[in-house]
Amino acid sequence: MDILIDPGRPLRGEIMIPGDKSLSHRAALFAALASGESRVENFLSAGVTHSLIGALVNLGIPCELEVDPGGDKGSATKEGRENQHSTLIVRGAGFDGIRPPAGPLGCGNSGTTMRFLAGALAAAGIAAILDGSDGLRRRPMDRVVDPLREMGAPIQASSDGRAPLILSGRPAGSKLQAINYRLPMASAQVKTALILAALRADGPSCFIEPHRSRDHTERMLRSLGAGISAPEEEGGEARVRVSPLTSDLTPLIGRLAGDLSSAAFLIVAALIVPGSEIVIRGVGLNPTRTGLLDALIAMGASIQIFNRGSQLDEPYGDLRVRYGELQAQSIAGPQVVRMIDEIPIFAVAAARAEGRSDVRQAQELRLKESDRISALCQELKSMDVRVSEKPDGFAITGPQPICGGEVQAHADHRLAMALTVAGLAARSPTRIQGAGITSESYPGFFNALQRLGANIRSV
Ligand code: S3P
Repeated sequence: MDILIDPGRPLRGEIMIPGDKSLSHRAALFAALASGESRVENFLSAGVTHSLIGALVNLGIPCELEVDPGGDKGSATKEGRENQHSTLIVRGAGFDGIRPPAGPLGCGNSGTTMRFLAGALAAAGIAAILDGSDGLRRRPMDRVVDPLREMGAPIQASSDGRAPLILSGRPAGSKLQAINYRLPMASAQVKTALILAALRADGPSCFIEPHRSRDHTERMLRSLGAGISAPEEEGGEARVRVSPLTSDLTPLIGRLAGDLSSAAFLIVAALIVPGSEIVIRGVGLNPTRTGLLDALIAMGASIQIFNRGSQLDEPYGDLRVRYGELQAQSIAGPQVVRMIDEIPIFAVAAARAEGRSDVRQAQELRLKESDRISALCQELKSMDVRVSEKPDGFAITGPQPICGGEVQAHADHRLAMALTVAGLAARSPTRIQGAGITSESYPGFFNALQRLGANIRSV
């Protein structure tokens, strides 16, 4: 599917953001590993979570995704209704309730699904093959395979450290070995896989990251009864200690906060399209995720946070965002980790901000759904934005006019959404090729923009 954007119309109105992708992945998997029936409201129903649920069903775990047909009453299209108000029901029977799958487990395009399952299946001692799309087969998996092997898990990647991953079974009653492990990069996906393995190890484990990545796993597992230490930070490094489970995880009952990473596109759109003012409801505000908000506020953005609350130990709030002029802002180090998925949309804001914005130490972006540094720079250049690519980031001096034209999504949902927002602020129409990939994380994205007044249609 391609999308055609006619720029110029201000965005106005209110929108409820769908459930957080990171929380949804964790909720589904941890519910599957718990003992009893879990009920998770505001679960994200999208491509990447369907990949995980499909795999869980193939592992013998009953999962049902209920979509409230009344859902979002204002939604005009099926996709708009579908990603709102989903409830996931999972009947878990503990790690030992997992059954070996009949065939390879498809993880689709979802790196989170593959890395989390690697840890969970290593913990459960289940034989399985984890595979995925061509895009997923290009992403590094040695970052989970190597430490899991150090813990004694019989897991193998292909020769270049990529999928498919092959796990052999472990004899019943045998345990993984506890480890103290320093992650070479800050990665919540790797940390989560290792924490899951550590829950079934022969003693306490400790994991150290160069900077603290999102801590949803620690919060959620703790609330389900796991022995996971409070966060410790020293000299910039972050440490988490994990004790082996002494009893099954308890079921998860509750509502997930909305996805700040999805809201990010609407936030920047409202900031750079003249005359816009929007309210976004129910946005997750976990401080390990709010790097983009901090950057935008430092740029002078008009963002008001109100109606704050907390659910399942995750803070959330409503945001009021108004169009206004922005000043440049540079980001590096820990702030990159706190906004790792928001860098493509940050680049669009930087193009409209006064002065030079530098993004450095963001080399992890080259290993996402696309090489996000190269693909982003290439597509922004084709919209006449001057951007200078660096090995670990890029630099943009603004404010620059953005010109419409034809751009490509590179099979990357976040790139497709960032380019759409650039198109909304452009001087002429933009066509995004392969824009349907947005349904991987935000199926109602175009519908949400239409409801806010944008002139967008699929072609
Ligand atoms: C995620 C962690 C991040 C992020 C991804 C989701 C998670 O990946 O980019 O979209 O849910 O833990 P890394 O941990 O590989 O940085």
